[in-house]
Amino acid sequence: APPHRLALRGDLLDFTATPEWGAVHSPAVRWRPDHWLLVEDGRITGAQPADAPLPGEGWERHDHRGRLVLPGFIDTHVHSPQLDVIGSYGTELLDWLNTYTFPAESRYAQAAESEAGAARFVQALLAHGTTTAVVFPTVHKISAELLMAEAHRRGMRLITGKVLMDRNAPDNLRDDVVQAERDCVELIERWHGRGRLAYAVTVRFAPTSTPEQLAMAGALCAAYPGLYMQTHVAENREEVAWVQQLFPEARSYLDVYLRAGLMNERSVLAHGIWLDAEDRAVLRDTGAQVAHSPSSNLFLGSGLFDWRATEEAGGQVSLASDVGGGTSLSMMRTVLDAYKIQALQGQRLTGWKALHAATLGAAQALRLDHEIGSFEPGRLADVCVWDWAADPVAERRMAVVQSLHEQLFAWFTLADDRNLAAAYVQGVPQFSRTPPVG
Ligand code: GUN
Ligand code: ZN
Repeated sequence: APPHRLALRGDLLDFTATPEWGAVHSPAVRWRPDHWLLVEDGRITGAQPADAPLPGEGWERHDHRGRLVLPGFIDTHVHSPQLDVIGSYGTELLDWLNTYTFPAESRYAQAAESEAGAARFVQALLAHGTTTAVVFPTVHKISAELLMAEAHRRGMRLITGKVLMDRNAPDNLRDDVVQAERDCVELIERWHGRGRLAYAVTVRFAPTSTPEQLAMAGALCAAYPGLYMQTHVAENREEVAWVQQLFPEARSYLDVYLRAGLMNERSVLAHGIWLDAEDRAVLRDTGAQVAHSPSSNLFLGSGLFDWRATEEAGGQVSLASDVGGGTSLSMMRTVLDAYKIQALQGQRLTGWKALHAATLGAAQALRLDHEIGSFEPGRLADVCVWDWAADPVAERRMAVVQSLHEQLFAWFTLADDRNLAAAYVQGVPQFSRTPPVG
């Protein structure tokens, strides 16, 4: 059969390299206003100016002229069951977990809750322009199983795994080492590498796993090539002190994970606010990344992450909503919060650094830049189409911009999920607000 051919018209923006700190004019930015993006059988094959004839026959045209076309966003840390606790009042991390989060997660023991929750969550990600995510479901095997099934059905790149927690949590949210290992192995053998799914060994955080469970998790990472590892680290000062008490032999919070064999180039560590220079060197040496979660860090009062120091020490930084500690699934809200957190520390995050981190930068940190994160030929067509303005204030602001950087910066400052016109996964529309013209 001839390939399915899809041509998407709009203002194409992606990255071909890593933007420098502070550079508002960056050679890393590839800007192709009013172009066709060419997609064959779900893969990007090229791009060309809108006024040139399409090569050959049989193109299905989606004409989004006047709209912004970006690679789908990548959210490197988000909790599917926590849509139910988003915007919960008045607590820092440890109280927030006990008061709101653990009770909500315990409902996922029911298969019907897990199934409905997975469908709602994946739908919501796509409606916010996020086409790839690294996700915490709950401790229940069924929650990971049904989340993977839902992503698989949509052809989405999703990284997730059953949450490991065998202490310091309510009865109905604890596993044990033997059963947890059995569940992980079954899930890995069923899902890891199937379609676009990858399994992540998912240690909730050091306080909720015994040293025996951490060792089991480390052994899994060593046993199966290509597994991810996700956890939380150094988010909140009380939490850091607790970890010091629980693991007196460790040099630092991060060192708990290093000793357990959990630090590798596919490790995704949320927060990392209270890491020191030695910890950052460990990030560099292992290739692990910090999933910076600015909305959550502000909302839970956790602290200000030093992005630049982490990067200059050789650590990779990606961006994450951390819903429900974070208050929005929108990666535009996330990059804006990241900008504000850097501003509070006397740093300026350019629009380019921010958008890069949410696309190509995250793809590279996840070792997935051969598949996602840009419009390079050969990448899968996970693509989002955005309205430049969704209201009169934004329309006016867009009308008076003086440079491309100003345009993109003001765009994500004023935009949110209401700006999303369409989200494509492997070239298939999975969300559509307005039908394309033509
Ligand atoms: N640390 C351990 N669990 C969690 C969680 O669910 N959210 C956040 N933000 N931090 C955590
Ligand atoms: Zn989290």
